[in-house]
Amino acid sequence: MVAGAGLFGLTVAERCARDLGLRVLVVERRDHIGGNAYSEVEPSTGIEVHRYGAHLFHTSNERVWEYVNQFTAFTDYRHRVFTIAGDRVYPMPINLATICAYFGRAMSPGEARALIAAQAGEVAHPANLEEKAISLVGRPLYEAFIRGYTAKQWQTDPRELPAEIITRLPMRYTFDDSYFADRYQGLPVGGYTAWLERMADHPLIEVRLGTDFAELGAAGNVPVVYTGPLDGYFGRAEGALGWRTLDFEFEVLAQGDFQGTSVMNYADEHVPYTRVHEFRHFHPERDYPGDRTVIAREYSRFAGPGDEPYYPIGTPTDRARLARYRELARAEKDVLFGGRLGTYTYLDMHMAIASALAMYGNRIRPRFLRQARV
Ligand code: FDA
Repeated sequence: MVAGAGLFGLTVAERCARDLGLRVLVVERRDHIGGNAYSEVEPSTGIEVHRYGAHLFHTSNERVWEYVNQFTAFTDYRHRVFTIAGDRVYPMPINLATICAYFGRAMSPGEARALIAAQAGEVAHPANLEEKAISLVGRPLYEAFIRGYTAKQWQTDPRELPAEIITRLPMRYTFDDSYFADRYQGLPVGGYTAWLERMADHPLIEVRLGTDFAELGAAGNVPVVYTGPLDGYFGRAEGALGWRTLDFEFEVLAQGDFQGTSVMNYADEHVPYTRVHEFRHFHPERDYPGDRTVIAREYSRFAGPGDEPYYPIGTPTDRARLARYRELARAEKDVLFGGRLGTYTYLDMHMAIASALAMYGNRIRPRFLRQARV
């Protein structure tokens, strides 16, 4: 049995059915498969929207790339992000174009490095996130691009956030403005849902939607791969693990193009949202209507009970609780814990797939082959 039909659960189910010929029951709490990578078509425009936030596939892992290409082809979309700070637009992450535009003059990589190093030298021993960020990029860039955005992400003044939240800030001294550096990048040609449905499309795989693993009662004596929240599995006995969540405000607009790009960040604190996604720009190759577009404004906040957990926070309390949950998980007979919720780790899609393939290859397959020999 697999609990959760996200990319981790689907990869395990697909491998067990196709490679080992096992019957697999996948139970999924939501009314659709695909976990957070799920997308759907907005009915009045035909535009594919990502319900849980923009998902761009990228990997340098040959094995993962080969695996996913069995289920879908990918477009050649390359992700780029811009940010509005004040009344100007700059490329993100901060690169030489951002630095030259912000300081209003042409600089060589060496000149830009020297300028930022001098500005970053202002703080020697950072005691909070603000000081840490200044020690990495200097005060002017911090104030323009990081302070407001971070305050909105955490609903907290960066001076009150621990320095450890950031170890580095992406910064490039070239004009390369591509968001990901991976060898393989793109979006599934037929959309995410078609890709994910193809993974589950096997006579030995049964998917039960709207079914919470916790409410199943005794799962029987079948081995389980659990990809739901780790603390939830144990009834939060050691306390809740902290997450940030996002709220998306979707809107169909009567105009062909709202912002000219797929993701626009808003650096200023007085703008309440952090980003605006415009979904038509993920698929310029598609024949979308010229007079309507779909956008989603993204807001960030701490997750309360009942909210979708999106990004693990990882405070010292969280880390202590996680260590205890991991011990409990190790002692659980015939249950393997995986995926972003089951391990309390941020995983990109390619990482979720790679780790599911590793669990299958190292733990599940050897066990069933051994059983078959006995
Ligand atoms: P995922 O959360 O997708 O799936 C778990 C499933 O388990 C869910 O469907 C859930 O409903 C179900 N479940 C939970 N508890 C259950 C229970 N008790 N019983 C039954 N079912 C249960 N990655 C990337 O590569 N590029 C990108 O651009 C992005 N963008 C992005 C944006 C945002 C806002 C987020 C939060 C994440 C991304 N990601 C991403 C990461 C991507 O979403 C992530 O890699 C995958 O969701 C991981 O798949 P999992 O199967 O681990 O979890």
